[in-house]
Amino acid sequence: TLLLDKGNMSVLSEKSLENKTLLLRLGLTNSHLHTIHPLGFHAAPQLKSIKLTNNDLSTLPARVFSPLSVVEEIYLDGNQLEIIGPDMFEGLGGLLVLDLSRNKIRDLPPDMFDGLSNLLLLNLGRNNIKKLSPTIFHTLTKLQRLRIYYNELEVLEPGIFDRLKSLIVLNLHHNQIKRLPPGIFWSLEKMTELTLSYNQLEGVPHKSFYNMPKLKKLTIYSNPLLSLPDELMGHMPYITQFYLYETNLVTVPGNLFANMSGLLELNLHVNEKLRYLPPDLFCCLPNLVKLSLRNNSLRDLPPNLFSKLTTLQILLLNQNKLRTLPENIFQDLTSLVTIDLRSNRLNTLPGDIFLSNTALTAVTLSDNPWRCDCAIREFLRWI
Ligand SMILES: *[C@@H]1O[C@H](CO)[C@@H](O)[C@H](O)[C@H]1NC(C)=O
Ligand SMILES: *[C@@H]1O[C@H](CO)[C@@H](O)[C@H](O)[C@H]1NC(C)=O
Ligand SMILES: *[C@@H]1O[C@H](CO)[C@@H](O)[C@H](O)[C@H]1NC(C)=O
Ligand SMILES: *[C@@H]1O[C@H](CO)[C@@H](O)[C@H](O)[C@H]1NC(C)=O
Repeated sequence: TLLLDKGNMSVLSEKSLENKTLLLRLGLTNSHLHTIHPLGFHAAPQLKSIKLTNNDLSTLPARVFSPLSVVEEIYLDGNQLEIIGPDMFEGLGGLLVLDLSRNKIRDLPPDMFDGLSNLLLLNLGRNNIKKLSPTIFHTLTKLQRLRIYYNELEVLEPGIFDRLKSLIVLNLHHNQIKRLPPGIFWSLEKMTELTLSYNQLEGVPHKSFYNMPKLKKLTIYSNPLLSLPDELMGHMPYITQFYLYETNLVTVPGNLFANMSGLLELNLHVNEKLRYLPPDLFCCLPNLVKLSLRNNSLRDLPPNLFSKLTTLQILLLNQNKLRTLPENIFQDLTSLVTIDLRSNRLNTLPGDIFLSNTALTAVTLSDNPWRCDCAIREFLRWI
């Protein structure tokens, strides 16, 4: 192992690696490296790992890695690369990890990953990629992690992920994606993490998240979503937390969470336009402990909205536009410990609204236009 970190070695010459016949791992990071000689790696064809992170490389000589027939890891993250030749990684069939993140790549040749049939991790994050060819990932049948976050992708081509049968993590957050083709994730049955937050999605096709029974993390928040389809989430029992915020949704389908039975925490909050919640929305969340509905525009709540949430401990309804609450709305919340009703438009509450919430220890009521007349007397007595 040879580590030349922070060493100011700005040129890797034809001779730099000469006679280092036992060298398996080379780390040359944070070193202002700007030039690699076209034959820079010829002297060390036995290298398995090359780490060139955080340097000043803006180009790479054609086929510079081609002598490295047994290489397993190449890290080029944190450089200035804009263009990568189509044959740059040709013949590197043993490559397991390729990190091209934090560069300035705009385009990738459609066949640049052809032959990397053992690749497990591909990081293309934090570049300027606008478009990807529909077949660019087609040989990567063993790929487990694909990161394309923080780019400028506007479109995903139909079928682009179809051969990635081994994929477990797909990060697409912080792009400009406007539309998803129907069924684009349907081949990804092993997936545990899919991130789509911070894009420009106004809608999501029917059944988009079906066939991913192992999913543990799914993010779609911070998209200008206008509506969601009636069937969206397939069976995904391992998701324990779900966030849906910063959207333009006015309401959500009644069965949106019906397949997310493992949820412990649901944050359907900070949706400026969210006005209506369907009566059965929380029908099938037998383990839910925390529900946040704060900072929406809710005016009324259906009377039985919370009736199945017998394990719920924390309920946040603050920063809405609630004027009244149905008399029995909290009746079945027998585990409730904390409720926040702050900053609504409530002027009175029924005297027995919290009568069955015997575990309750914190109730926040401030910043409501309470009306001090006889109607509130029973509630005052409860306090
Ligand atoms: C690297 O170069 C910088 C600026 O030229 C200098 O300040 C620094 O001491 C050098 N570091 C080493 C390890 O030579
Ligand atoms: C490599 O080894 C050969 C033979 O011992 C020697 O002539 C040559 O100078 C060495 N090169 C370097 C860069 O050390
Ligand atoms: C729940 O998932 C199952 C299996 O993936 C599917 O058949 C069903 O339609 C889903 N329900 C909803 C409401 O999407
Ligand atoms: C929630 O609403 C309050 C009052 O409208 C506002 O001050 C606060 O910034 C909001 N929080 C978020 C996260 O938007």
